[in-house]
Amino acid sequence: MKFAQFLLKNGSAAGIPRLVERFSKFSPSPLSMKQFIDFGSANACEKTSFVFLRQELPVRLANIMKEIDFLPDKLLGTPSLKLLTSWYSQSLMELAEFLEKNPSDRNVLTGFTQTLVNIRNRHNNVVPTMAQGVVEYKDAFGVDPVTNQNVQYFLDRFYMSRISTRMLMNQHTLIFDGSVNPAHPKHIGSIDPTCDVVEVVKDAYETSKMLCEQYYLTSPDMEIREVNAKSPGQPLHIVYVPSHLYHMLFELFKNAMRATVETHETSPTLPPIKVHVALGAEDLTIKMSDKGGGVPLRKIERLFSYMYSTAPSPVHEDNSRNAPLAGFGYGLPISRLYAKYFQGDLQLYSMEGYGTAAVIYLKALSSESVERLPVFNKSALRHYQTSIEADDWCMPSRDPKKLGGKKMKRTLKLD
Ligand SMILES: Nc1ncnc2c1ncn2[C@@H]1O[C@H](COP(=O)(O)OP(=O)(O)OP(=O)(O)O)[C@@H](O)[C@H]1O
Ligand SMILES: [Mg+2]
Repeated sequence: MKFAQFLLKNGSAAGIPRLVERFSKFSPSPLSMKQFIDFGSANACEKTSFVFLRQELPVRLANIMKEIDFLPDKLLGTPSLKLLTSWYSQSLMELAEFLEKNPSDRNVLTGFTQTLVNIRNRHNNVVPTMAQGVVEYKDAFGVDPVTNQNVQYFLDRFYMSRISTRMLMNQHTLIFDGSVNPAHPKHIGSIDPTCDVVEVVKDAYETSKMLCEQYYLTSPDMEIREVNAKSPGQPLHIVYVPSHLYHMLFELFKNAMRATVETHETSPTLPPIKVHVALGAEDLTIKMSDKGGGVPLRKIERLFSYMYSTAPSPVHEDNSRNAPLAGFGYGLPISRLYAKYFQGDLQLYSMEGYGTAAVIYLKALSSESVERLPVFNKSALRHYQTSIEADDWCMPSRDPKKLGGKKMKRTLKLD
């Protein structure tokens, strides 16, 4: 009997660990922007995409499910995490049902697309559910540096895996649903082969400005400067997923606007947010600078932490129009993942007492935009098995030492 039939026959839940073992033996296969485009171009073949995805999606899910098992038991035991792991199991099982099916059967292909839509919907609330689990854990057990480090390592990989599986599912469902996106006929699924970066900057600014005005009754202006070193004077185009770029810029604008308005509460005018966009041979860089008072260096790393910054979501029962400019504290870490997903990055440079510059780096060449994916292996395992180690840098003493005195205390090593 074939493996998938065996699983179906032998009850679902019991088969999950075996499915996870089976698929996590494979490494995910990262796709380049070029491959995404080829999948969706004129000679796109739904059958080929189906055959690739029915293996690749379970591989990506199983790899990250292996890592979920290494979270602290007390976090795994929260109702939120139980719900979330049940979604992953259910989706893995549904995908495995297609392993033995005939790719030439139209009904199979239609059924697969419908399954992808169902899975995507099932996983819609993964981020707030996971965040809720972290809040429940924190409220009950507090945070220590080791747990913070493990959770940070895991969540960066978990959310990156989610970005990637949603990308794959979106591409397949958008490309093979038989219609052309009337607003964007040139898009290939969610990819714009000539994504106009400055247009996306303006869109994100306008939406953030609207929110800011609803909330604070004022908002800073924006100044854009663009440099195209590749083709001087031409618009800045890259092959990219506009929704990802929009997400990052929108988050950065919300932060910059909030900092600017709150820092200049008593002044009659607000300093503008300055955006510089530059296209070079390798990088497309977007720098957003505000004069919102900045953040001390000591706190910068924490701004990207899921555990330290997680606050209960300010949900408004009436779907309030006064949508706040700050929520879970996931704006920066998730935006950085979007940037890293296609080999870019997002960094924050701040001058406390003055302002902050947030910089998004993207690959200018589509041949270098390749998915960055987590893989479960021995190195990953090692990260979850770190124990508390003594710091290998001296800790400054709180008591001033009498350097001239004869009796200087010696510090015993703690390892
Ligand atoms: N440009 C900035 N100037 C000053 N502080 C900033 C700036 N950007 C971010 N911060 C600080 O970093 C924190 C974390 O930002 P982040 O966007 O990750 O979460 P958030 O804005 O609190 O919530 P949300 O999930 O809605 O984005 C902010 O609460 C703010 O204190
Ligand atoms: Mg934010």
